[in-house]
Amino acid sequence: MKKVIVVGGTGFVGTQVCKKLLQQGWYVTVPTRQRDHVQPLPRSSQLSVLELDVHDESALSLAVAGHDAVVNLVAILHGDQAAFDKVHVALPQKLARACRAAGVKRVVHISALGADAQNPQSAPSMYLRSKGQGEAVLLAAAGVAPPAGFDLTIMRPSVIFGAQDKFLNVFAKLQKVLPFMPLACGGARFQPVWVDDVASAVVQSLAQEDAGAAPSAAKPKIIEACGPEVFTLRQLVQLSAQLSGVHGGRGRPVVALPLWLGHVQAALMALAPGEPVMSHDNLDSMKVDNVASGKVPGLQSLGITPAALRPIAQSYLNK
Ligand SMILES: NC(=O)c1ccc[n+]([C@@H]2O[C@H](COP(=O)([O-])OP(=O)(O)OC[C@H]3O[C@@H](n4cnc5c(N)ncnc54)[C@H](OP(=O)(O)O)[C@@H]3O)[C@@H](O)[C@H]2O)c1
Repeated sequence: MKKVIVVGGTGFVGTQVCKKLLQQGWYVTVPTRQRDHVQPLPRSSQLSVLELDVHDESALSLAVAGHDAVVNLVAILHGDQAAFDKVHVALPQKLARACRAAGVKRVVHISALGADAQNPQSAPSMYLRSKGQGEAVLLAAAGVAPPAGFDLTIMRPSVIFGAQDKFLNVFAKLQKVLPFMPLACGGARFQPVWVDDVASAVVQSLAQEDAGAAPSAAKPKIIEACGPEVFTLRQLVQLSAQLSGVHGGRGRPVVALPLWLGHVQAALMALAPGEPVMSHDNLDSMKVDNVASGKVPGLQSLGITPAALRPIAQSYLNK
């Protein structure tokens, strides 16, 4: 029976990935900073939970040893440069070393659409630059000739929707309480992808690598995980209200903010406790469209036909 360690397996995407892996008969290990974060995961005799600091390289190496594959889903959306470097660059580096030391031959790494491993610094935000650097360190480690390297698949999703998303759900909730929606970068374009499709892609990638159908360690695979439709941010805000029935499905008036005012809004949000809805760095990310480049394969290359947003989003927003 195959064993996989899913780092970041307690999160929005990780939970769906783990569920599918368990269904496919994998033995799944989930490391977590806090044991109660595994609560959304199903109870299963095939699931092991390890409470550890994944940034502690020796603890991470011990955890990785004995597994056939690693899936990395750890990421942050907000933070300073040091935090992005630690989570998006240093952690993949530590994982790569751990895999090579333990002889793990398969790695699936979840990055983000807009990350560029060839030229990380060309991206407009700390989030995307650090994601590109993270890809680069894994590509370098995987490319080392066998037996030291590993099969690598990098998944680059656009924004991900699903019942637990912090995206359409947040827009809908805000419009329930605000008389209008102040919105910067409303013209930014996205190609939202269903969390289930991303999870299927991860499981499918592992299966392909297992069957030897994936490129060898010398030829990693990069996949753009995008849905079938492109929406502007403004359309998505309006759709979230429509599908959740806010104000009789009409939603609230969307008031376009110039970028500078968006940054003022982000500065004010940064003063409030908890995760901001929109940070300076998020605004920077939206300077470029978040749609498939078409330069690398999409989900179809894994036999997945990505689902349309409306029917699925309606099923969870309209509750
Ligand atoms: N959600 C989206 O719309 C979207 C879009 C594009 C790309 N992605 C990518 O998809 C992947 C999964 O995203 P997600 O939305 O599922 O993320 P998530 O819900 O925030 O989950 C991330 C997981 O990483 C762990 N984690 C978070 N911060 C950490 C830190 N500082 N140190 C160590 N572990 C930490 C957490 O595990 P514990 O709390 O259990 O330790 C958490 O379960 C990420 O790589 C993300 O960049 C997501």
